[in-house]
Amino acid sequence: MIDYIDQIIEGNCIEVMKNFDSNSIDLTLSSPPYDNLRAYKGYVFPFKEIAQELYRVTKEGGVVVWIVNDATIKGSETGTSFEQALYFKEIGFNLHDTMIFQKKNPIPQIYRKRYNNIFEYMFVFSKGVVKTHNPIMVDCLHAGLQLNGTTYKNYSKGEQKREKLASPVKKEKIKGNIWEYVVGKKAEDQEAKEHPAPFPCALARDHILSWTNEGDIVLDPLSGSGTTCKSAIQLKRKYIGIDISSEYCEIARKRIKQHEMQATLDFA
Ligand SMILES: C[S@@+](CC[C@H](N)C(=O)[O-])C[C@H]1O[C@@H](n2cnc3c(N)ncnc32)[C@H](O)[C@@H]1O
Repeated sequence: MIDYIDQIIEGNCIEVMKNFDSNSIDLTLSSPPYDNLRAYKGYVFPFKEIAQELYRVTKEGGVVVWIVNDATIKGSETGTSFEQALYFKEIGFNLHDTMIFQKKNPIPQIYRKRYNNIFEYMFVFSKGVVKTHNPIMVDCLHAGLQLNGTTYKNYSKGEQKREKLASPVKKEKIKGNIWEYVVGKKAEDQEAKEHPAPFPCALARDHILSWTNEGDIVLDPLSGSGTTCKSAIQLKRKYIGIDISSEYCEIARKRIKQHEMQATLDFA
């Protein structure tokens, strides 16, 4: 296992993961090729085998975040994202949360009789009960407001309504599960522009912070331009990246090297 830590490995992830110890990964953050939307070089995608290997290598309480969308073929969305989510459940994962990655700057599409697609799914699976959750907090809109005498519906007691003296609204609350990001515009994301489908660094950081602690191992078996791996280093986690394309592995290694050089300069 040690041999794979903090490396970008070129290869078919299904073969590479077979060498990993069982119950060794804290978080997998990854995004598969969406149907046949993009022709990746050397494209081979045995989804079910990959999902099974992910279950084996994930620690008890560990998490897999799977970011996915569907192609529209002959007027119908494929539904592959749902099929994959249900398969993860079938092999033993909990479907812990169905989250949304909303794009602030979606690509305009000329669909007939359909709204513009502005989001992707972020399925969060866990092996048993989630062991680490460091929730991102946001400010409450009405912080400090006294809500004396607010009317609540109390369904459990079968009453329609009851009066309750409420405490003042707290300063912060746990963020909701729709996360919004600008795609491809920030300098840190521009570094990945040679890859056809990178996700934003900010999205990767938010998941890594949420589901791991410093020193934990973060895997991306379809690492592309290395967004997950670079973000893991920034947050003092260990990483393992795998991609079938030598070209994408080179982009990832270059990004990581640039980041490490910058970090050395900042420290000096
Ligand atoms: C959607 S992209 C991932 C992009 C990545 N999240 C990023 O930010 O750059 C999917 C990646 O999976 C890789 N891939 C496809 N099949 C693979 C396989 N069997 N093993 C490893 N990598 C594979 C492709 O080369 C591609 O880079």
